[in-house]
Amino acid sequence: MRFGHFDDPAREYVITTPETPHPWINYLGTEDFFGLISHTAGGYSFYRDARLRRLTRYRYNNIPTDVGGRYFYLNDGGDVWSPTWAPVKAPLDRFECRHGLGYTAITGEHRGVLAEALYLVPRGADAEVHRLRLRNQSGKPRLLRVFSFVEFNLWDAFDDQTNYQRNLSLGEVEVEGSAIYHVTGYRERRDHYAVYAVNAPIAGFDTDRDAFFGPYRGWGEPQAVTEGRAGNSRVSGWAPIASHQVDVHLAPGEEADLVFVLGYCENPPEHKWEGPGVVEKAPARDLLARFASSAQVDAALADLQSYWDDLLSRYTARSGDSRVDRMVNTWNQYQCLVTFNLSRSASYFESGIGRGMGFRDSCQDLLGVVHLVPERARERILDLAATQFPDGSAYHQYQPLTKRGNHEVGSGFNDDPLWLIEATGAYVRETGDLSILGEVVPFDNDSGNTGPLFEHLRRSFHHVLGNLGPHGLPLIGRADWNDCLNLNCFSTEPNEPFQTTQNRAGRTAESVFIAGLLVHCAPDYAALARAAGFPGEAQAVAEHAARMAATVLSHGWDGEWFLRAYDFFGGKVGSRECAEGQIFVEPQGFCVMAGIGVEDGQAEQALDAVGARLGTAHGIVLHQPAFTRYHLELGEITSYPPGYKENGAVFCHTNPWVMIAECRLGRGEQAFDYWRRIAPAFREEISELHRLEPYVYSQMIAGRDAPREGEAKNSWLTGAAAWNWVAISQHILGIRPEWEGLRVAPCLPALLEDVEVVRRCRGATYRITIENRSRGGSPRLTVDGHAREGSVVPYAPPGAVVAVRAEM
Ligand code: BGC
Ligand code: NOJ
Repeated sequence: MRFGHFDDPAREYVITTPETPHPWINYLGTEDFFGLISHTAGGYSFYRDARLRRLTRYRYNNIPTDVGGRYFYLNDGGDVWSPTWAPVKAPLDRFECRHGLGYTAITGEHRGVLAEALYLVPRGADAEVHRLRLRNQSGKPRLLRVFSFVEFNLWDAFDDQTNYQRNLSLGEVEVEGSAIYHVTGYRERRDHYAVYAVNAPIAGFDTDRDAFFGPYRGWGEPQAVTEGRAGNSRVSGWAPIASHQVDVHLAPGEEADLVFVLGYCENPPEHKWEGPGVVEKAPARDLLARFASSAQVDAALADLQSYWDDLLSRYTARSGDSRVDRMVNTWNQYQCLVTFNLSRSASYFESGIGRGMGFRDSCQDLLGVVHLVPERARERILDLAATQFPDGSAYHQYQPLTKRGNHEVGSGFNDDPLWLIEATGAYVRETGDLSILGEVVPFDNDSGNTGPLFEHLRRSFHHVLGNLGPHGLPLIGRADWNDCLNLNCFSTEPNEPFQTTQNRAGRTAESVFIAGLLVHCAPDYAALARAAGFPGEAQAVAEHAARMAATVLSHGWDGEWFLRAYDFFGGKVGSRECAEGQIFVEPQGFCVMAGIGVEDGQAEQALDAVGARLGTAHGIVLHQPAFTRYHLELGEITSYPPGYKENGAVFCHTNPWVMIAECRLGRGEQAFDYWRRIAPAFREEISELHRLEPYVYSQMIAGRDAPREGEAKNSWLTGAAAWNWVAISQHILGIRPEWEGLRVAPCLPALLEDVEVVRRCRGATYRITIENRSRGGSPRLTVDGHAREGSVVPYAPPGAVVAVRAEM
């Protein structure tokens, strides 16, 4: 069952009922100002940091789930309704939400009035624009009293939700014409304020939440709205809001637009005030002037669309299957950029106050965007490296506003450093920009202790090599990719967090996954070392990697698959000797991706075991059997009920590792089959079971042990986006930038017979035609009409257009 459909030419998902199984959301914003918006206009906005610069308030875990947002209320002669259905929820004659790339348009039709609310964050503006278009489709004149609504957050979203005895006395606003200014905290240390304004004269306003709603009333029935008259309330403490009343007269057939702007402004310290106690509003006035007319909004939308046209033209595919094309050409790439921007810090499943940017998360998110926003990927790599400790380890998370590591979480996740190499390798292969290796970057943000980026990478690699356990495998530390595999934690205390609590001292618990990751990133690291002028290091790396691969085969091989780890006592994790958790997906994927056991058959055996034991209709689960009780020696992983989250769910993040591994063995049919099981567009038809957005990946889908098998959770912000992009674009379709050139090595299922890919890379355009007639095997390449040995097309100069033909 579906709740909408894809509109491919418009690159929109069109939701046709407000009653989806869960709020289906979208993101507004591309650089600094962001908004989360649901299909009924719920959600919130922030500037850069969802915790420290939150503009509007949102309550998680609410009843119903999604209340609070940028709402419009219409009072049409006493008949009250909302164009976005929520919050009034009056029945609509028609409802449609179009989630597009960086914008959302929600249309409601009610008793002859058509209302369309368009929401976007224009490029280059720290603001959300909300345009309300009203059309009188009836035969009689109408007077619509329009009420806008946003509720301000007192900036620090954590404090806002916890420190009521302070916060309920802080709220302050100023009102000037049709603009309402939220200035809480500005009198003391803040240099920023928010504004919510409309481009029309107002009949009234409210800034005090209680005055607007009236005591004891809910979202659907604000007193100001039901009475049809704003109270002109001026908040003092309590809860500041911004609501405008605009009275709109519409003749039959007439249409009117109102443009609302929710903006963020900063002033330099010497220009804080324009009069005694009066906030300097010059930046706000400039901002409002840029979006004062509907034509300016149209231009901003067109500009946003051309931004996406350009980005998405860097990789386009025509495969003959619309579901493949819409994932590849639009939605997977879109999600990659959203994930990169927010790094899982804010979604409907992450409050925006809990965490900053994850180190390993951001490094992996980068893999999905190096072709889209290489300059920003470069900056991100340098920011991440600046949070690295001098010994090569890293803060697990950092705060985007301050770019400093989070002390509460600290370090000790021993896979973290290696992801910096994966990210830098991907960036340099995409761009050819070797200059990044020489960029001077501090350690732990200390300007007195710096080194070139390459030195950071060197310390990353050697941090892992310098921390090996009894079998010569990398020590796991607090955990590796699986945050919940806490082999040194031994927590019996419910009041302490698994991942950050004092660990037992020990140098026994080892991770086969980190070993695979080390071997996987070694070729890139060696190439980077050579490029940075350290041929000796490059040579040594190859030897280290070969030794680690051999160690994995001697101590990390269980007979039919790769072991997961050794625990604190040296016991095996992920072995057929275990009663629960006998086989884990992570080492199978990564070790085979790294090429371990490919020659001697272990790789094939491991992947066959994955298919037989972990493959389900809804994707590949993390491990089997799921843990049925709490294992003190394994930690948080066994805290989840079987089939959920790290205890045996389908983590969409790890599935592409297996797809890539399958491609490594040339098994395209199997790789594609795995891809299709979790690709959102292929799950659209089971939306009633999947329940979350059919246009983006969720972090997990409940596994076969869970009562709710097949149900997705934690959508949007997941490394699943980047890795699935790598799997489908670089390995299944098979077009990937390498050191010597663009590799064209498709590994396709029989279903895809003729595929065309247009790939822009390093300034040149490659038009690639793939003929998949013999169904598999290696391709015969023709480049600009000349046969070419191997599968690498040398990089062409910027501006060149290269025609590539690959016959399978
Ligand atoms: C991870 C989740 C995990 C959670 C448990 C987080 O760091 O992102 O996947 O389930 O920790 O607390
Ligand atoms: C989500 C975290 O963001 C990521 O870093 C981790 O690898 C997975 N959960 C698995 O635990």
